[in-house]
Amino acid sequence: MTGPLPVGLEMTRILFVDDEINILQGLRRLLRPFAQNWVMDFASSGDEALAKLAAAPADVVVSDMRMPGMDGAQLLERVRHEYPQTMRIILSGYSDREVVLRSIGAAHRYLAKPCTPEALRQAIQASERARTTLRQDTVRTMVSEMNCVPSLPSAYEALMHEFESPNASLVRVAEIVERDPGMTAQVLRVCNSLLFGLRTEVSSAPMAVTLMGLRTVASLFLSMQIFKQFDVTSVTGLELEAVCDHSLSTAWLAREIARAEGCSSRMAEDAFTAALLHDVGKLLLGLNFPDLYREVVTASAAGHATTAEAERAVFGADHAEVGAFLLNLWGLPQLLVDAVAQHHSLSPGRPVLNVTTVVHIADALDAEHRGELRSGLDASYLASLGLVSRLDAWRQLRSTVPGTTAAIDTVA
Ligand SMILES: [Fe+2]
Ligand SMILES: [Fe+2]
Repeated sequence: MTGPLPVGLEMTRILFVDDEINILQGLRRLLRPFAQNWVMDFASSGDEALAKLAAAPADVVVSDMRMPGMDGAQLLERVRHEYPQTMRIILSGYSDREVVLRSIGAAHRYLAKPCTPEALRQAIQASERARTTLRQDTVRTMVSEMNCVPSLPSAYEALMHEFESPNASLVRVAEIVERDPGMTAQVLRVCNSLLFGLRTEVSSAPMAVTLMGLRTVASLFLSMQIFKQFDVTSVTGLELEAVCDHSLSTAWLAREIARAEGCSSRMAEDAFTAALLHDVGKLLLGLNFPDLYREVVTASAAGHATTAEAERAVFGADHAEVGAFLLNLWGLPQLLVDAVAQHHSLSPGRPVLNVTTVVHIADALDAEHRGELRSGLDASYLASLGLVSRLDAWRQLRSTVPGTTAAIDTVA
């Protein structure tokens, strides 16, 4: 597929596109240390990039956004149609917000300029991992057939940058959230719903961050931007609101369980984030294959199979694998990818109470609370952790999760 490579060596072929020759030369120099594993090629315009792809398709295309003639969004849209298996990364400045919005769906990943070689290497390695993830062929082929694969919100890089700084600031996180006023309103609605009973109303992003915590608000914000990319009218047979509602209550419960078991606050926050995204694969499947997904919904509603079993029968892979593929593609931390991948079936091996386990427990107890026939709770795993006796306490926690339906009815 990628031209004459040495037999047995699967090198990743990467095409960089930028109209500024200096930038291409800089990239060529900076990325030389990775030349052992990557076959790198460079193009100075969209047309030249398409000509090069026609000669030898690339595994990853990294494109500048602003270019004369065909811009990055137009180029990646062409790549999406003509080379659906190619991973697409866009490099853009924050000032390109309008163009970035236009390219949602065209790019899998955004990187902010100026971008360090290390950030670029990580993004490309995440694409490589995604390409070789679980049941790679089935999932990859399935994703390549999708017309709509949501992209990682462009605010992600800015929020992570803030969290990585030694003095992460409430004010700066709130400012990043407020750059999207529509989504800020949505986040405030969810916060008010989750904090129901508080005397005062959560009326601003800084207040939400103060009351809920930096990472919780950031996770809510990012997951809602992700959910927003799913057009509710297209997700036939699948209730977007139901998935959002279940995701929010699972996230809340996962965080409470982690806290109740004395886990670190960082782990409780990671469990919250992972749980928010744990079923995103359902939306991806439902959006792209509405007719087939209706079969899944019908089979699971009739109680013949769980949703995941029905998905495997119809698609050859389930929403946990597809969701993990997406998170992997976006380069999200491995512990989030693992939690999404294993939320229905914890991997055998030495049992441990980690983010994955907490998300599994919260997901199963939320399903049980909603009256699903088969919650899928791995009781033997809990027994080997000596935690079966905690089940009643966790069920009690579930009963205290605030209702969120009213808060998310306009997420999409
Ligand atoms: Fe699930
Ligand atoms: Fe779930």
